[in-house]
Amino acid sequence: MRAIIPVAGVGSRLRPHTYAIPKVLLNVAGKPILGHIIDKIIGEGILEGTIVVGLMGDKVIEYVSQAYPNFRADYVEQEERLGLGHAIHLSRKTLGTEPILIILGDTIFDVDLTPVLKGTTSAIGVKAVEDPRRFGVAETAGGRITKLVEKPEKPATNLAVVGLYFIRNPNLLSRCLDDLVAGDRRTKGEYQLTDALQMMIERGETMVPFMVEGWYDCGSPETLLSTNQALLEKHSTVRSIPGVIINEPAYVAPTAVLSNCIIGPNTSVGDGAEISDSVIRNSIISGHAKVHGALLENSIVGNDSVLSGSYRRINVGGASEIDFF
Ligand code: G1P
Repeated sequence: MRAIIPVAGVGSRLRPHTYAIPKVLLNVAGKPILGHIIDKIIGEGILEGTIVVGLMGDKVIEYVSQAYPNFRADYVEQEERLGLGHAIHLSRKTLGTEPILIILGDTIFDVDLTPVLKGTTSAIGVKAVEDPRRFGVAETAGGRITKLVEKPEKPATNLAVVGLYFIRNPNLLSRCLDDLVAGDRRTKGEYQLTDALQMMIERGETMVPFMVEGWYDCGSPETLLSTNQALLEKHSTVRSIPGVIINEPAYVAPTAVLSNCIIGPNTSVGDGAEISDSVIRNSIISGHAKVHGALLENSIVGNDSVLSGSYRRINVGGASEIDFF
């Protein structure tokens, strides 16, 4: 089986980080978002994939080939941002007749895919959400998906499409995408995967929904930090370092060098980071960043950044009240 991982999104809400690296290479809970995704699919026994890259795609290729030398990846470039359907359409030449798993590159999932991948029908991951209007929405009857609508103004159900699609019949998907693009059928200005899947249903493909509870968004600084926290709560990895207090949950890379600091809770420290004389909580310190003398919370420090704080000298009398903003 092959995975298709579209990662071409620009991650505008994560600027300035995404000026320097593609969104999928941002660190969360100790490794890039894409690392979490590839670990998940390798864990399911899928060892080959098509990665649809966009801006700074060379960095994605470098990361995947170095971190996952045994993962057989084909790369396809999406130069124009014409939508998710367009991204999958570009990858069609890498598809055979075997089933595929499409997994969106900007989201981390915690769900057991084994029963889904063993299933005899196509299956779409869904989750009940309060406001489904910014997602694809699934309508179901008798255990099947009867209709898929992209970002409807008046959703018929609260079942949001999470971005995990198991497709038994990639040939039919390719044909539907061909028709979508050839007929210039766009929704909200883009070629939508949701529309191609709806065409598959209309042409007789059986699709069932599967519930995905562990759906972690990484689209904004706030959600990146809450995803960091949620993943650390599941897999906190700490070691004892002299002169350093680590409050779990936390992750400190084995190659990070820490001295005289308090780290955590909910903090991950990437490879080769150097932190001294600092107190850091609810934060992500990425690879090879240098942080000295800083008090940080709810912060994201990018790869190779240098941050140096300062200690203040004060001489305060009794009954004073001071706020440092
Ligand atoms: C895409 C899909 C949408 C799905 C969503 C999940 O939308 O088009 O159907 O619900 O991912 O994150 P996007 O977030 O790219 O606008």
